[in-house]
Parts: sequence; C-alpha cells; structure tokens
Amino acid sequence: MVTDNRFDVLIFGSGAAGLTLALHLPAHISVAVLAKSTLEEGSTLYAQGGISAVTQAPDTFESHIADTLDAGASLNNPDTVRFTIEKAPAAIRWLVELGVPFTRDAPNGRDDSFHLTREGGHSTRRVLHAADATGRAMETTLLGAARARSNITLLENHIAIDLITGNKLGLAHNSCVGAYVLNRKRHRVETFRARNVVLATGGASKVYLYTSNPDTSSGDGIAMAWRAGCRVANMEFNQFHPTCLYHPKAKSFLVTEAVRGEGGRLLLPDGTPFMEKFDARGNLAPRDIVARAIDHEMKRLGEEYVLLDISHKPAPFIKEHFPTVYARCRELGYDMTMEPIPVVPAAHYTCGGVITDLNGQTDIAGLYAVGEVACTGMHGANRMASNSLLECLVFGVAASEHISAHLQDTPEPPRLPAWDESRVRDSDEEVVVSHNWDELRRCMWNYVGIVRTDKRLQRARRRVDLLQQEIQEYYSNFTVSNDLLELRNLAQVANLIIRSAQLRKESRGLHFTLDYPELDTSKPPTDTVLTPDRPQDIDVAV
Ligand code: FAD
Ligand code: SIN
Repeated sequence: MVTDNRFDVLIFGSGAAGLTLALHLPAHISVAVLAKSTLEEGSTLYAQGGISAVTQAPDTFESHIADTLDAGASLNNPDTVRFTIEKAPAAIRWLVELGVPFTRDAPNGRDDSFHLTREGGHSTRRVLHAADATGRAMETTLLGAARARSNITLLENHIAIDLITGNKLGLAHNSCVGAYVLNRKRHRVETFRARNVVLATGGASKVYLYTSNPDTSSGDGIAMAWRAGCRVANMEFNQFHPTCLYHPKAKSFLVTEAVRGEGGRLLLPDGTPFMEKFDARGNLAPRDIVARAIDHEMKRLGEEYVLLDISHKPAPFIKEHFPTVYARCRELGYDMTMEPIPVVPAAHYTCGGVITDLNGQTDIAGLYAVGEVACTGMHGANRMASNSLLECLVFGVAASEHISAHLQDTPEPPRLPAWDESRVRDSDEEVVVSHNWDELRRCMWNYVGIVRTDKRLQRARRRVDLLQQEIQEYYSNFTVSNDLLELRNLAQVANLIIRSAQLRKESRGLHFTLDYPELDTSKPPTDTVLTPDRPQDIDVAV
C-alpha cells in the first residue's frame, strides 16, 4: 500500500514505453508506474506483427531508414529515424536477454536464427515476432521483470486527471512536479508528486468509432500535456489499419499485416484482386495507400467489406504463423485455411502527439513523453509497420538515461495542494457522458476519417466545439469518473486533430483531402505544430 505518494520518477503507462523506461532506471531511483486499467491492458498487449530491426545481412540500416522515410512521405525527422533504427539491434538484444520468445528458424540463439516476417512498406523481411502475439510476449515479459524490481511500485486502476506544474501552483519556475490521479477502486482523487513525470499513455485511436485499439487509447497523455502547456505536432496523421475483421462481435479485431507479408491477398467480394491498380507494391504497399484503396473500392461498389485470402497456403503454415488470428476467426465462424475472411479498415495509430526531443523531453522541464503519445519525428505522415514497438523501446531507454543523468540536479517536488471537490456533486445524468461519447466518435469517423474535405472538417469542428463546451460544464459541476475523464480528453484530442487537418492544404501520407488531393511540392514539407495559449496555429519547417 502506498503511504506517501512521492517518487523520483512517476510514469503514467505500463505498456512497452513506460515499462522499458522504468526497467532502465537504476535501482536506487524510486519509480511508480501507474495504469488506468489493469497493468497488462494497452495497445502493447495486442501487437501482432512484430518489431522491426536490422538483424541479418544483407539488410542494412540505410535500407530500413529509406523505407521508413518513404512510408512517412518525407515528413519524418531524418535524425530521429537514424537514431531509432541504429539503436534497434541493442533493443532487441535487451528483449532477448529478458526472455522475450521471438520465433526462430533454429534454436541456436544467434541473430541470424530469428524468423523474419515482412509487412507493408518494408522492402525486405526485417520484422521479428513471437508468432502473431508479439505484444503479449513483450508485455508479459516486461511486466514480470518490473514486478521483480523492489524500486518499482506498480499501481493499476489509477487514471491521471491532470499534471501539476509550477505555473499552476504560481511558482517562478514552470516544471512538472506531479499529477492528480483518480483511484478508480477507492473512488477518490489522490495527489502524486515526483521529480520527473513521464507520459507513456499510448495513442488516441478511440476518438474514432471503429478502432483496433483497446479502451485505454483515449489520448489522455496528449490532452494532459496540451492543457499543461506543451506543443503537439502532426495530429492530422491518424493511421487506419487496412485489415480488421468484419464481424459484429469482432470489435475491430486486427488481422496482422504479416498475413499479407506471408502471401495473403486482398480481393473484392467477387474475388477480384485490386491492390495492383493502386500501387506497384500491391498488397504490401504502405498502410495509408492500402487503407485508402479499400475505402475507395468499398465506396465505389457500395460494399461493407473486402476479403483477405491466404487459403492458398498450406493449413499447417497458417496455423503455425497466425495461431491467434486463426483461433479468433474460428470462434467467429471463419476458417482462414479454407476461405477468404471479410476485413475493413479501422483507426489504429496516432502518428502525431506531444513534441519531444531525442531524450523524450517535452516543452516542460521534468516532463517526458515516450511511446505512441509522443511525436518524435520518427513516423512522419505515416508510420511504417512494426516501427512503433521499436520507437517505444529506443525512446524508453533514451529518456531513462537522460532522467538518471540529471536526477541529482532536479529539485525535490514541493508539497502539493489536495484535489478540491468542494464545488462538485455526484452526477445525476450519466447518460450525457455516454451520449456525447457516441456522438464524438461517430462525428470523427464520418467527417475526419480516411478521406477528408474542408466542408467535412468545418462540420466536425462546429460539433466538437459544442461538445467540448458541454463536457467542460459537466466536468466543472460533477464528481470525476473514468468515462468523463476520457471523454474530456478525447474531445480535446478531436479538436487538435481537426485543427491540424484544417491547416494542412495538401494530401500527404495519412492525411488525404479531396480539396487538395496532391502533395505540395512547392515548398519543403512542414510539420503541423499547435501551441497552447497562442492565438494562431503555426506551421514549422521540418
Ligand atoms: P500502450 O501499450 O497503449 O500503453 C498505454 C498505457 O498507458 C496503459 O498502461 C494505460 O493504462 C496507460 N494510460 C493511458 N492513459 C492513462 C491515464 N490517464 N492514467 C494512467 N495511465 C494511463 N506496433 C508495432 O510496432 N508492431 C505491431 O505488431 C503492432 N501491432 C499492433 C496491433 C494492435 C491490435 C494495436 C492496437 C497496435 C499495434 N501496434 C503495433 C502499435 C503498438 O502496439 C503501440 O503503438 C504501442 O504498443 C504503444 O505502446 P505504449 O507503451 O506507448 O502505449
Ligand atoms: C500488424 O500486425 O499488422 C500491426 C503492425 C503495426 O501496427 O505495426
């Protein structure tokens, strides 16, 4: 039981990013890792395809870098891309030492024995994986290691509400010194103080009605950082995964891109292949291209899904490589060894986020952001498959090194005021929250999805503005709950996505608009940077 909520490092998020950071901090540093749901729950647990890294010749760093820049439509920060990709082999070695059971062709433990799969955008096989449950293998291994560390306190069912900064306390120096946290089991708000605070809260894909993500992806870290005064960038680049299972009970279950990497083909409902019409790389084109092609064909034909077919491969091969997908499909009545399965795109990954440097530092002293919550410059306008877990690991390590190196100079956090509940009462109309939830996510799906227009964005902005006003009123008057906090954050993130999309007057990567259907080649690519408390949103050259 926690008696004094004071730590050297306070980490929100127990996914790949948060746990990697925690595990790299030395044993004399006191660390708390908080998760808003169970400790396992988060996108990391569901990652299927794998983690990309150059581990075997003839693959090279230059090739991985070139593919990443190409998938990212040249909006990536080349220094960040190189930094991440060159550190990938060390990250993999660390995972292997911890015991992550990557699939191998031979049991000799050598780097050249990893079975490598292929995914969209990669010009060669370079994705390490643990069958089709790579995320589960990583998450359970990292969590096991964290549980064994006496300096790490793990707390689940603790949802961060807002960061506490020097500015909010009226101090001369604006640094992050803690956070207010709702203890969901005890139904009370607790105050945590720390010398460093880390956001490892994952992405925001739950802002869309259909998503491959678990419920934790509600953009809390992005919204909290924004409210605290951090800049965010590239929020218009929302990745839609091309192949989620189409079934009323599937909850957008992901069918890994590795199915296409191992020979799977996308077909129209009448069995016609179509991807070659859209890109010479066919079924293994980057995700933005494949998702847009599917959306186009579904709308053109008035169909509700397309098909993914790997049934031409031997059944034992399919069952061995894709045991998780095979089992889930069987539960829902499909046998992928015998027939094509119906698939649709769903929101999958948030490429933009809180701006950080190569140490994971944000604009606010003492506040770091790592993993999907951050915008490091790695992914540009479209993340390449299996580069996310890699980024979580590399930046988890980098941030931990920076924190350790500077901890001595970081001041002790002050005593913090308790959460003030004197002016709120228990809600009498929870239905308002659930109604607004639904309206927000539907509005984002319909107006700010795979294909955008100025008019759709304007409509969405008007609705989201109204929703934000209503939610703010509700937040000011009623006791906070998990759903209300997530709704408030999602509405904030929706606002940031729409504003960023309105600023981009071109189509690039994941942002496609019928009003500006071409890439703007007249000037160097620019990030969309939004700054809190600034009247004008600005574009900044990469
Ligand atoms: P997450 O793993 O999402 O963890 C977020 C953590 O933050 C959770 O512990 C959550 O409880 C906590 N949290 C959130 N908000 C709060 C709050 N307010 N207070 C306290 N705690 C909070 N990427 C790849 O590279 N390869 C793949 O094969 C791959 N497959 C994927 C398959 C699926 C189905 C999905 C959904 C994603 C996949 N991705 C893949 C993307 C990748 O899994 C994620 O980007 C990555 O795992 C994010 O890790 P993270 O640590 O940043 O966040
Ligand atoms: C997948 O397995 O298709 C997801 C991979 C990713 O999101 O990187």
